[in-house]
Amino acid sequence: MDKIKVMIVGYGNVGRGVRKSIAANTDMELVGIISRGPERVKKELPEMPVFHIDDVDTWKKELNPDVAILCGGSKNDLPVQGPALAKHVCTVDSFDNHSCIPQYFAEMDKIAKNAGTSAVISTGWDPGIFSLERVLASAFLPGSNAYGFYGLGEKGGLSMGHSDALRTLDGVIDARQFTHAIPEAIERIRKGENPEFAAGDMHWRECFVVVEEGVDKAALEEQIKSMPGYFEPYKTVVNFISQEELDSKYAGFPHDGCVVASGTTGDGSKAMVEYRCAWESNPEATANVLIAHARGVVRMFKEGKRGAFTILDIPAAYMSQHSQETLLAKFM
Ligand SMILES: NC(=O)c1ccc[n+]([C@@H]2O[C@H](COP(=O)([O-])OP(=O)(O)OC[C@H]3O[C@@H](n4cnc5c(N)ncnc54)[C@H](OP(=O)(O)O)[C@@H]3O)[C@@H](O)[C@H]2O)c1
Repeated sequence: MDKIKVMIVGYGNVGRGVRKSIAANTDMELVGIISRGPERVKKELPEMPVFHIDDVDTWKKELNPDVAILCGGSKNDLPVQGPALAKHVCTVDSFDNHSCIPQYFAEMDKIAKNAGTSAVISTGWDPGIFSLERVLASAFLPGSNAYGFYGLGEKGGLSMGHSDALRTLDGVIDARQFTHAIPEAIERIRKGENPEFAAGDMHWRECFVVVEEGVDKAALEEQIKSMPGYFEPYKTVVNFISQEELDSKYAGFPHDGCVVASGTTGDGSKAMVEYRCAWESNPEATANVLIAHARGVVRMFKEGKRGAFTILDIPAAYMSQHSQETLLAKFM
């Protein structure tokens, strides 16, 4: 059988993860990478076909991909690159700005339908796997709320967005922010409660910050704790440390989380569903989810399905490398 030809769009942490993940997906081949900085990518991967993202005719002719996996940032890259790429090729992306998903879906759906392509948007682990788990929980336990908790382990989970926000502050050289779930909140749901939580009731935030010499640390700490949306509603602990300590103790991209929902069945029998993920590398794990969706979107495309889709619209069997016979015999 012909392999699925995958093209990576944008080469950062997730893009690197997709490249590494191809080896574990033997029905796929990486045909090349397109980037806004092809020289940078070629330096890292001299053997790889790499083209500028704007050289559309060239990469279409030279790479002829079945699917493009978009690995750009959600804030500024994907809102531009998603619509631009879906005009030419089937796409998969991890757009994670939850409140903008309905508008992004509508735009991608219109473009993909007009162009005759198929696009899976907003997949990864959240949005992505956890979205599916939330929907399943509400279908199986009507009336329940599904709660998402992040950073369950002792060290918590690295939040890239919050780390970026810290690095924008004057006097900050480098920073990493770890999110911690509040265990007592998880236990309340496991016990069968359906509480109305405020954001700060479920998580607290721990910041590790490297600063320039002479910075007023007390003022900076206050500035961090009062950043609206990011830190203001949460209990926030700020630790000032050296670059060496940050690099040695807090490197990598660890993250984990769970979706928990509780409700009742029948005449009030208690019921609870819980789904947990733990990643030593969040971008690599996200990449693995994107790859599985690339397989799914190519199958949808071959069936004649056009437009935008999410993880909720793709049969799980379409994401699997296994045949229907194996799925029936071993996974059911
Ligand atoms: N849904 C989920 O569960 C989930 C989970 C994790 C992440 N995500 C999403 O994935 C997005 C990408 O994350 P990421 O960690 O891969 O971001 P990143 O490393 O910052 O890469 C984003 C883009 O920046 C450019 N870039 C990367 N390194 C560069 C460098 N050294 N110099 C210049 N440009 C560079 C690349 O584009 P060019 O090659 O075009 O320059 C790349 O596509 C995030 O914004 C997030 O929205 C989603």
